[in-house]
Amino acid sequence: MIQVAVFGYGTVGSGVVQVIDDNNDLIAKRVGERLNVKYILDLRDFPGDKNQEKVVHDVNIILDDPEVEIICETMGGVKPAYQYTKSALEKGKSVCTSNKELVANHGPELIKIAEANKCNYMFEASVGGGIPIIRAMNTSLAAENIVKIIGILNGTTNYMLTKMAGEGTSYDEVLKKAQDLGYAERNPEADVEGYDACRKIAILASLMTGHYVKYEDVYTEGITAITPMDFEYAKKLGKSIKLLAIADDRDGKLTVMVAPFMIGANHQLNGVNDVFNAVYVTGNMLDDAMFYGRGAGKLPTASAVVADVIECARNIGRTLPCLWDEEVVRLADYKEVKRRFFVRVSREQRGAVLNQVGPIKEVAVCDEEFAFITPVMTEKAFDDKIKNLKGVLSVIRVEE
Ligand code: HSE
Repeated sequence: MIQVAVFGYGTVGSGVVQVIDDNNDLIAKRVGERLNVKYILDLRDFPGDKNQEKVVHDVNIILDDPEVEIICETMGGVKPAYQYTKSALEKGKSVCTSNKELVANHGPELIKIAEANKCNYMFEASVGGGIPIIRAMNTSLAAENIVKIIGILNGTTNYMLTKMAGEGTSYDEVLKKAQDLGYAERNPEADVEGYDACRKIAILASLMTGHYVKYEDVYTEGITAITPMDFEYAKKLGKSIKLLAIADDRDGKLTVMVAPFMIGANHQLNGVNDVFNAVYVTGNMLDDAMFYGRGAGKLPTASAVVADVIECARNIGRTLPCLWDEEVVRLADYKEVKRRFFVRVSREQRGAVLNQVGPIKEVAVCDEEFAFITPVMTEKAFDDKIKNLKGVLSVIRVEE
């Protein structure tokens, strides 16, 4: 029997306990031993819950119990998860987490501590919810030089954008629905401002390079400026609007950014709707591969945590390779990246646009506005061209 503890009995933590219970026989066959949740750490009590007897409030009960070999950290946030994780790893207990904030802040350090103590720090559930992307990058794609990753990495905003586009639902209404469905972070700002996707792409970009891409260096825009009118234009253009997280290595210059993009009907990510996430990976040998699945929610995320638990259980006393060291990657300036831009300005600006922006493609939707797509240019050149335009209503990047 392998004893497991769960830190945090919220949406994902309770899902972890459910996955281990419901699939216990199957997991026992796959591991060769049965898993048992011995403790649940939480500040709260859960009277009436079938696992109430397992709930403890003192982390040291778990850390000091030599029987506990694997911990699921599903608390979220950096404090106190960082200290608890570090202490557990130092005692040789493997930790499996869904906590992207902690992974993005301390991933390489915690991986190193795990290695020194012959255990594992695993974080499959930290990116893309239930999608197996971290293990894929560490194993199945290990022969690749990954040159580009484009991800839809936040389930809440993808759900919101899908509903706003299809049903014309208001921003506030659709955010509330996402929160009720258990997709959103405790603080919805993390989702809608792009911070959650930013941490996730920083983790993927780190694994892509083997070094440390700091999320603070990633240029990030959320979806709060997207309006119903933008969707009207997107519809007219046969495009959709998605919050993309992109890590792009061009000749050794890595740019990483998060922002809303218009993408065409033929783009592989166009059909990724609702809470689904996808990670579109380009390798130098493999070419393109896409990983798709539920990016948020109790059981899909818990399933990824438990898959890590199974991997740890199969490898007690052994650290699995995960190439991610503490050397900080210097990112190239995203302003040098070339692309097209969709722009809406007031109609009076038409002449100025034709003068300053060059051969544009006009998109006609309403009389009061002048909307267009620019030729391909760097972000820097674009900024220079539109800085003198008055009444800019909206700018959305276009991913071809
Ligand atoms: N709030 C996150 C999302 C949860 O919506 O994707 C999963 O990381």
